[in-house]
Amino acid sequence: MAALEFRSDNCGRAAPELIQALVSANEGSVLGYGGDELTKQLHAHLSELFEHPVKVFPVPTGTGANALALAAVGSPFGAVYCSPEAHINTSECNATSFFGSGLKVTPVHGVDGKIDPLALDAAISNAGKGQAHKNQPEAINLVQATDMGAVYSVSEVTAISQVARAHGLTVHMDGARFANAVATLGCTPAELTWKAGVDILSFGVTKNGGLLTDAIVVFNPDIAKKMGFHLRRAGMIWSKMRFASAQILAYVQDDLWLRLARQSNTSALAIANGIKNLEGVKLIAPVQANELFVEMNPKAVDALISDNVLFYRRGPNLFRLVCRWDTTQDEIAQLIALVDRHRLKR
Ligand SMILES: Cc1ncc(COP(=O)(O)O)c(C=O)c1O
Repeated sequence: MAALEFRSDNCGRAAPELIQALVSANEGSVLGYGGDELTKQLHAHLSELFEHPVKVFPVPTGTGANALALAAVGSPFGAVYCSPEAHINTSECNATSFFGSGLKVTPVHGVDGKIDPLALDAAISNAGKGQAHKNQPEAINLVQATDMGAVYSVSEVTAISQVARAHGLTVHMDGARFANAVATLGCTPAELTWKAGVDILSFGVTKNGGLLTDAIVVFNPDIAKKMGFHLRRAGMIWSKMRFASAQILAYVQDDLWLRLARQSNTSALAIANGIKNLEGVKLIAPVQANELFVEMNPKAVDALISDNVLFYRRGPNLFRLVCRWDTTQDEIAQLIALVDRHRLKR
């Protein structure tokens, strides 16, 4: 049986518009390190998109974006609070601590990959602020969409930012799937970020049709001043920046980023609708972006694997499915049929 690809949005193709943008950018000579016209245009365009003057720093990976954004807002003796499932806590190999020169990742309670504002307030209040023996609360990391496929509403982001502000902390959003969240909420990028108290954003591109770049978008000019030094020290400033900027420009132009995200979101919702009422199948988190977390008995999960459905297993009876912008109707129909066929296997 041909493989059905649901491992990651990283497994998808790049959008043809971005490939074309690279080809178009491949003309003549221009200054490196962001001194080129396309990078200037990128700043203007994202400032318009976010309705705020922003500084944009294209970086090769989401991990780089997160770790360096946090390094710029934290200190070697600081703590950054996040959900237990947050990518910086589970999957980035201590990059935040490494680039933050000791900055400690500190999970606080929440559901569906979110942070609970009350738990956050309690954790910061009890952290021992001002005591030399304790690390010092400095930043919050919100993942949007979350690592469980849920989406923070604007008011949920605002509630967390208010806790952060009350304690003098900075708010970072890991927006590896920011497009998916904006597409779901139908809000503006501004409403979901700086207007809701976010200071700095990891702006995902690669997972949603990009090929080699994400970006750090900084809303607070004091943070932006330090960013370049952190990036250069980490070897994360593209020298041929025009090719990164060209990609991101094409990504946001004519709402391409939202169209791509709507495609993967719609696919995830179609799968959720196709399997959620089946006996033996349980969705363990709301499907609000392009990821599904599914529980079935272990034999049923084994059977899906034998039938060449590709996904990441998170436990004997738990697995994650991720839709790409280019997931097809046929793949969705085949997956639903296989789940239905195997769900009661014991
Ligand atoms: C929520 C989230 N943040 C950050 C990343 C890191 O991206 P990269 O693998 O490009 O470093 C990922 C990748 O899976 C992710 O899912």
